[in-house]
Amino acid sequence: MALPDRMKALVVTESGHADSRQDQSLPSLAPHVALEEIALPRPGPGQALIRVHRASVNPSDVAFIKGAYGQPRVKGVPAGFEGVGTVVAGDTPLIGRRVSFFATHSGTWAEYALTDVATLIPLRPDVGDADAAGLLVNPMTAVAMFDLVRQDGADSFIATAAASQLGKFLMALGRDGGIRPIAVVRRAEQAEMLRAHGAAEVLVSTAPDMARQARDVLGRLGPRILLDAVADQVSADLFFAMGRGARWVIYGRLATEPPRLTEPGQFIFLGKRVEGFWLTGWMRETPRARVEAAIAEVQARFADGRWRTDVAAVVPLTEAMEQLPAVYGRGGKVQIDCGGAAAGTE
Ligand SMILES: NC(=O)c1ccc[n+]([C@@H]2O[C@H](COP(=O)([O-])OP(=O)(O)OC[C@H]3O[C@@H](n4cnc5c(N)ncnc54)[C@H](OP(=O)(O)O)[C@@H]3O)[C@@H](O)[C@H]2O)c1
Repeated sequence: MALPDRMKALVVTESGHADSRQDQSLPSLAPHVALEEIALPRPGPGQALIRVHRASVNPSDVAFIKGAYGQPRVKGVPAGFEGVGTVVAGDTPLIGRRVSFFATHSGTWAEYALTDVATLIPLRPDVGDADAAGLLVNPMTAVAMFDLVRQDGADSFIATAAASQLGKFLMALGRDGGIRPIAVVRRAEQAEMLRAHGAAEVLVSTAPDMARQARDVLGRLGPRILLDAVADQVSADLFFAMGRGARWVIYGRLATEPPRLTEPGQFIFLGKRVEGFWLTGWMRETPRARVEAAIAEVQARFADGRWRTDVAAVVPLTEAMEQLPAVYGRGGKVQIDCGGAAAGTE
């Protein structure tokens, strides 16, 4: 296949981390990325070039382009951590195959992305591009963190930011695994939707009687793990209201203001723990067989409809600078159409 010399991409405009604390809003893409035409990246040993169909826009992408993620920005390199596309060149027998992938060298917010072949996930034909574009970051994190819940042995767990895409996946995992999820959201109108996804209880953090409701639910269900994407005072208060041996697993930092640890004695006398979860670390440290089983489970869940990605909007790559900020963060996933969609994969 003849490849072009140049491609369109949304490239990062700054290097390193931001000097000041950043929130998760995205009023404009302009200070962080720019639509440019750049040289097509060329795959080296152990690498693959992918014609991108669709790319996800996740909170981690937004944190990254704003200089507030665990990895520093590299000026001039396309943004976008994950996507779906067709392998068009490289050091792999998967050329011509449709794959989900993490872009390790040149990001997915582009016509072409460059990655290590180890990140390529050949796709089942019955998983469409809408689900395949976000097959890794949220689904794999949900499955991996649900392992922690299962290992813990309690028959309930708490998840904050539960109306997020990841939260909805966790609700379904809990329901299907017989472990009752307690959803925490800030908007009461999300409660019914979360119950439909599998939540056993829904706590609304902005409700005036939140503390009393939380005590009641915790007393009845006895969760020992708090899966937390927010890391605010609501999370801290919930954690300190949990029983002996509770674990606060922080995997996101959606809140701008950090919480106060009001009951440090509980770490000493009640054996409570605070820890972090990062999918990148989990992928590195987990036995290959478990990672592959998780990938198979994720694909099976999308294929048979137990999971579905709620796509709020798909914006064309060349119009993302204008269109993306208007639809990001309004509920549901935003994806970028990078122009390489294969027929019949929607
Ligand atoms: N550590 C890891 O490896 C890892 C992997 C994957 C995802 N994550 C994290 O998981 C979280 C969810 O990701 P996603 O893609 O599923 O998100 P998403 O679908 O984009 O949804 C974001 C959700 O966060 C809620 N939210 C935003 N700011 C909040 C705040 N200050 N307080 C309470 N809720 C807030 C929103 O609530 P409203 O509906 O009320 O606006 C929305 O429901 C993110 O923090 C992401 O970074 C971490």
